[in-house]
Amino acid sequence: MNKVNVIGIGPGNRDYILPIAYRIIKECDVLVGGKRNLEIFASYEKEVFAYDSNLQGMCDYISANRNEKKIVVIVSGDTGFYSLLDYLQSKLGKECIDVIPGISSYQYLFSRIGKSYKDYGLYSLHGREIRWMDILKDKKGIFLLTDKKNSPSCIAKQLIDAGLSNVTMIVGENLSYDDEKITIDVPENIVKQDYSVLCVVVIENED
Ligand SMILES: C[S@@+](CC[C@H](N)C(=O)[O-])C[C@H]1O[C@@H](n2cnc3c(N)ncnc32)[C@H](O)[C@@H]1O
Repeated sequence: MNKVNVIGIGPGNRDYILPIAYRIIKECDVLVGGKRNLEIFASYEKEVFAYDSNLQGMCDYISANRNEKKIVVIVSGDTGFYSLLDYLQSKLGKECIDVIPGISSYQYLFSRIGKSYKDYGLYSLHGREIRWMDILKDKKGIFLLTDKKNSPSCIAKQLIDAGLSNVTMIVGENLSYDDEKITIDVPENIVKQDYSVLCVVVIENED
């Protein structure tokens, strides 16, 4: 039985994809992924399965086809940071999957602002609630994956409401794409703006 390759393809720009990822993708029969990520490999003319939000459908497709076809699942950023990897391993079995890492959105953003991330907490608000304000108190700062509900403005409002206006927010929109934008500002200003859905946030405590 063919192993399924789960490959991290970085923040979105082709230049941040590892050579080994390109090699495995070139040799595969089917590419499985979200629409945005599949577009990157459109010129490869592979059979594609866009999973949108139908994860069970994706697993059924992989199970039904992996004997005959070499299947690659592409995920954004790194495989080890809030990707589909855990879900796929639980559904298909760990032994059936090979993993190729990618550059995470947090690695990319911290490199763009010229800082290391060893003293920061790394979390996701993508479809989940966490007590990030409590965590922030004990760290130099935190990095958050955001979503429509937990937008940078919404996070800024929560900081203001909690009296934590003395932090700095760094908002990374469309990272690595041509329209990338990185905004460094205080919550009072961040709260007034609209941001891309493809977005991450760093909150830093005062030194
Ligand atoms: C399902 S998570 C995947 C995280 C990914 N595994 C990583 O290592 O960055 C998707 C979230 O990652 C963030 N993200 C991924 N690519 C991004 C980019 N190019 N620019 C800004 N945020 C990005 C957004 O917060 C998005 O909602």
